[in-house]
Amino acid sequence: MVKICCIGAGYVGGPTMAMIAFKCPKIEVVVVDIAVARINAWNSDRLPIFEPGLDEVVKACRGRNLFFSADVEKHVAEADIVFVSVNTPTKTRGLGAGKAADLTYWESAARMIADVSKSDKIVVEKSTVPVKTAEAIEKILTHNNKGINFQILSNPEFLAEGTAMEDLAKPDRVLIGGRETPEGRKAVETLKAVYAHWVPEDQIITMNLWSAELSKLAANAILAQRISSVNAMSALCEATGADVAEVAYAVGKDSRIGPKFLNASVGFGGSCFQKDILNLVYICECNGLTEVANYWKQVVQINDYQKSRFVKRVVSSMFNTVSGKKIAILGFAFKKDTGDTRETAAIDVCHGLLGDKAQLSVYDPQVTADQIMRDLAMNKFDWDHPQHLQPMSPTTTKQKPAFIFDGRNVINVEELRKIGFIVYSVGKPL
Ligand code: NAD
Ligand code: UGA
Repeated sequence: MVKICCIGAGYVGGPTMAMIAFKCPKIEVVVVDIAVARINAWNSDRLPIFEPGLDEVVKACRGRNLFFSADVEKHVAEADIVFVSVNTPTKTRGLGAGKAADLTYWESAARMIADVSKSDKIVVEKSTVPVKTAEAIEKILTHNNKGINFQILSNPEFLAEGTAMEDLAKPDRVLIGGRETPEGRKAVETLKAVYAHWVPEDQIITMNLWSAELSKLAANAILAQRISSVNAMSALCEATGADVAEVAYAVGKDSRIGPKFLNASVGFGGSCFQKDILNLVYICECNGLTEVANYWKQVVQINDYQKSRFVKRVVSSMFNTVSGKKIAILGFAFKKDTGDTRETAAIDVCHGLLGDKAQLSVYDPQVTADQIMRDLAMNKFDWDHPQHLQPMSPTTTKQKPAFIFDGRNVINVEELRKIGFIVYSVGKPL
């Protein structure tokens, strides 16, 4: 019987391992993390992350074949397959700062695996990493030459937050990259057998390590590129009287393009799109591919432009100042059905409005007031502690003329205009 240990009990490690345990009752899965509070939360009634359907799956197998533990070394030592699902943020200092992936957490996990292992292991890259990371990891794992065989696989995760459990239960594909040696192929087959408990075999794609690593960065870059493309169109729509929803509908009807991921918005957020594109840009630059790097950089630049365009639109519509004006911000997480606020466009929008001295009241059903305060107090932008913020209920009184700025194009514009609101939607005529 295969024993699995996953290092990193975050947004990926937690749900992914819960799904493996749920679908493979005979496999023991232990999720470990150095963050003791996070592990305690996974073992409690209030899980550390919100994902629709996650509670049910965890409850069904926790204590049966799914365990959460802070005893990292013990469980890594006992495992046959070790998934590494630690965070890989953008480097904030040193070589490649602001672009390259910070592999500090990955490296320390790999060193620990090398130190505590007494038996052969398959080490799986679950985190999103730069292409060729497996080569570096291999060197770390084999540095103390204990005669242990480590096979490194790339098995990037494609789940999206808010739909993680659905995505894991019915993935479009599972990708496994490995070395093209007999040992490498055997390791690929072992991991494939785990997923084959519930994923049809023809949807489990195997390939070489570097292709698998790069495919993850490529997928995120191309998804984000679609959003930046439609957001760029939204600016042109506002200038010409076209409606971006109609344009996206017409474009998406082409079966070669498809209808998904063409919703204009205030800009994409989340912990990964920007980080992964910047990482891709850095890899291109390191390989002397300046034109390719510049091409992908534009996807992030258009996203920044879209966020600042939105703020400008709010301020200019409200007679060029929002100083002292009460503005309710509905929704703060980077998308619906999650409490995750990493890189949410709401932070940039709030900073822009606070910079013009607006009085903000922020509401999100999944985000605590403390988290919102922490996010807006971050001194990334040299920001003082925001004194004007307070939690609120979604209903509030209004002064006329009252404005609504819909950064997601989800509200019923006609209804609200009928009752006297001035409504602005992204990429639509006023
Ligand atoms: P996260 O920050 O939620 O979780 C990472 C966890 O790893 C943290 O709890 C941290 O304490 C733990 N950790 C760090 N170093 C450790 C160590 N040495 N030993 C033990 N635990 C350690 O991050 P996440 O959102 O789950 O993302 C993880 C990776 O997956 C990233 O590379 C990300 O790009 C990728 N990814 C994320 C998503 C997503 O939707 N969030 C989707 C696909 C891929
Ligand atoms: C994204 C990818 O969709 C996942 O496949 C990938 O695994 C993950 O990144 C990752 O590597 O972390 P996620 O960021 O969780 O998932 O959520 P998305 O649904 O992709 O949304 C990202 C952002 O784009 C959100 O702010 C969302 O509101 C925005 N978005 C999305 C748009 O503005 N328009 C769209 O049409 C779609």
